[in-house]
Amino acid sequence: MPPAMSSPTRQVGAESRPAAASAPASRAGAKWPRSVAPPRVVNIEDLRRLAERRLPRAVFDYLDGGAESEISLRENRRAFESIIFRPRQAIAVPQCDLRAKVLGADLSFPAILAPIGYSRLIHSAGEVAASRGAGLAGTAYILSTIAGHKLEDVRAATTGPSWYQLYLVGGRAAAEAALERAWKAGFSALFVTIDTGTAGMRERDIRNGTGQLMGGNWFGMIPHLSQFFSRPAWVASYLLDGGLHKLPNVVIPGEGPMALIDVAAALTESVVTWEDFRWLPKVWPGPIVAKGVLTGDDARRAIDVGAAGVVVSNHGGRQLDGVSATLRVLPEIVKAVNGQIEVLMDGGVRRGGDIIKALCLGARAVLVGRAYAYGLAAAGEPGVNRAVAILRADLERTMKLLGCSSLAELDPSYIGLPNDWPHE
Ligand code: FNR
Repeated sequence: MPPAMSSPTRQVGAESRPAAASAPASRAGAKWPRSVAPPRVVNIEDLRRLAERRLPRAVFDYLDGGAESEISLRENRRAFESIIFRPRQAIAVPQCDLRAKVLGADLSFPAILAPIGYSRLIHSAGEVAASRGAGLAGTAYILSTIAGHKLEDVRAATTGPSWYQLYLVGGRAAAEAALERAWKAGFSALFVTIDTGTAGMRERDIRNGTGQLMGGNWFGMIPHLSQFFSRPAWVASYLLDGGLHKLPNVVIPGEGPMALIDVAAALTESVVTWEDFRWLPKVWPGPIVAKGVLTGDDARRAIDVGAAGVVVSNHGGRQLDGVSATLRVLPEIVKAVNGQIEVLMDGGVRRGGDIIKALCLGARAVLVGRAYAYGLAAAGEPGVNRAVAILRADLERTMKLLGCSSLAELDPSYIGLPNDWPHE
């Protein structure tokens, strides 16, 4: 560990706050605020609808949209929908063990809140609310480099594990400074995103004038302002929050925090490569995970450079359009990794049953992105809590209906794959 990073006293990979695993994970019978209570909100799609009603078009599309023709975005969902369950009937399952151990941390259930860049735009409580929601549910939150809130405040909001997602925007010195702060604050694992060599082509953002709206030039903004008139609650809360903040965790030496508008260009200038996995361990003492692996070959490269895990991810269909659904390539990657490091996956998880399908195919746990972010958009922190509770209740019910009492017992025999998928 370099001298600058000697302060954390806890073990690498282990969590300093074991309370996370025993947190009140199940909110069965919980009293929800009316805005997210049944019958208004029964599933994640209901939260998505509320998000669409609350957010200006440009912000909703930033959250909801994908790249180019959105083929991979749709495929992520279609893959889950095309897998069937094969339950074991007439088995009593009074109790389900939903716990998972990921990167040394005990999670109350195998779903982790994924990094969502600039969540503060979706709701002013943004990353802080998501972090607290994860902790209340006994699971981990991964904070994006592109955050609107200070990483120290995000960490302080949760009793659960906090993990940090890294882009090299702003250059290596800015990244090293952020990592030093993150480790000191108590973040214990690093997710290095490897699928963002340049920003994906999000056509919805172009049509909505997102670039002009962030640019601060009133003439450029005028054609796109009408979408805000019908969303006064969001506009009021955005203005009360002080408008668009600079990125408090991307501090460029001699210049200060980076502006959000500069991120797209900065991504192209600072592409993450496998070489970066060589120096990162010198500045990050904890486990390092490669997020964005889509082939067995890249999974093996991740092992070669010393990664502790991979996330099978296509960035929620937001980067290279036309790549496979993540669920579909998961078996190839599980096979290539052969138990040497941990395999997580994300993309399209909207129900607890989806989590089970991913686990049957060999994932240790999943990351959920939009599922909780729709909740955040709909109602702030209670919306995050509601989203997580929906996924957890789904998971428990589906395990009982499958006749399976422990996640450790899940295997491919509980599911049926479509005929056009590779069968071993
Ligand atoms: C993301 N994702 C993402 N990933 C990352 O590594 N850093 C980031 O800053 C972001 N930002 C981001 C913003 C928004 C609005 C979305 C929807 C996604 C990708 C994210 O971590 C995750 O891989 C996907 O969201 C998973 O797909 P689902 O669950 O959203 O379908």
